[in-house]
Amino acid sequence: MKKKFLVTGGSGFIGSAIVNMLLKNNYIVFNLDNEFREKKYLKTKHKNLKNIKCDIRDYKKIEKYFKNIDTVFHLAFINGTNFFYEKPDLVLDVGVKGMINVMDACKKHKVKNFFLASSSEVYQNPIKVPTDENVPLVIPDPNNPRFSYGAGKIISEIILLNSNIFKKSIIFRPHNVYGPDMGYNHVIPEIIQKLSKSKNNIKIQGKGDHTRAFCYIDDFVKGVELLIFKGTNKNIYNIGTSREIKIIDLVQKLIVLSNKNIKIIKTNKKLGDTPRRCPDLKKISKLGYKPKVSLDMGLKKTYKWYIN
Ligand SMILES: NC(=O)c1ccc[n+]([C@@H]2O[C@H](COP(=O)([O-])OP(=O)(O)OC[C@H]3O[C@@H](n4cnc5c(N)ncnc54)[C@H](O)[C@@H]3O)[C@@H](O)[C@H]2O)c1
Repeated sequence: MKKKFLVTGGSGFIGSAIVNMLLKNNYIVFNLDNEFREKKYLKTKHKNLKNIKCDIRDYKKIEKYFKNIDTVFHLAFINGTNFFYEKPDLVLDVGVKGMINVMDACKKHKVKNFFLASSSEVYQNPIKVPTDENVPLVIPDPNNPRFSYGAGKIISEIILLNSNIFKKSIIFRPHNVYGPDMGYNHVIPEIIQKLSKSKNNIKIQGKGDHTRAFCYIDDFVKGVELLIFKGTNKNIYNIGTSREIKIIDLVQKLIVLSNKNIKIIKTNKKLGDTPRRCPDLKKISKLGYKPKVSLDMGLKKTYKWYIN
């Protein structure tokens, strides 16, 4: 009999890519998503896919869908920096209540395996870059709503690590995943949008000397797939690339792709922005993870998608 997977947040950018990967592996997939995001990324129609519109904060509604599920991928979360500042209570409600409900439903129906999407945001300003999975998790300022997101992820991780209901529970921490059709609340689409509207210049936050390591969605999903088969119980894995790039250099690459003669203008930096972010990937590399898509190729594909 085909194994049944349940994905929360499977209509989102990463969720839809994971749903497609699961369908390719011939699993039956239940997607629980309340379509909070205005944009629904999951376009797939498949006999093995069942989309259920519901809010993970509503235990009574979601519980029955966990019956006979083998593995849960928990991704539903409120993303986008604006939401962290404007609706930190919602971020935490979905993050914490949602996690507890999903765990309770798993317990009731004896789900075997659990994969939790955490985030690189749990490290905030890490004491070590590249950052490995053992670097301490921090909430630098509980009064800054910016950290509602990281706090929700840390709480979810702690809940999972302290439960013993699964045969296999795995946490993955995505680091700056990008690609075509990823929405507009991320740095790459934001820059592309600005460039498309601009004639002579583009404004960036600060000096643009903060860094990120961007991972193309196809490489990311291969990492997740690897964890299904080779990841081990109660382990945490960074997924991303180790190509650290300054934001100003990223903007420059996108300017080249735009074929425009545009000047970069530096402005004041936003509070809470992490200066450097780059994962240490030794742990997942040992399982065979090797990102293949170069930044230039990934940016080209992404740029083309947004411009079209
Ligand atoms: N994109 C990245 O680079 C990145 C980086 C770090 C972590 N993550 C994590 O990976 C996961 C997927 O990210 P994404 O980029 O696909 O985000 P996304 O916002 O595109 O997807 C999240 C999905 O969750 C759904 N959702 C929100 N609240 C819900 C609720 N109450 N009930 C049911 N569904 C709800 C949304 O409608 C959306 O479809 C998230 O947990 C995110 O925090 C992503």
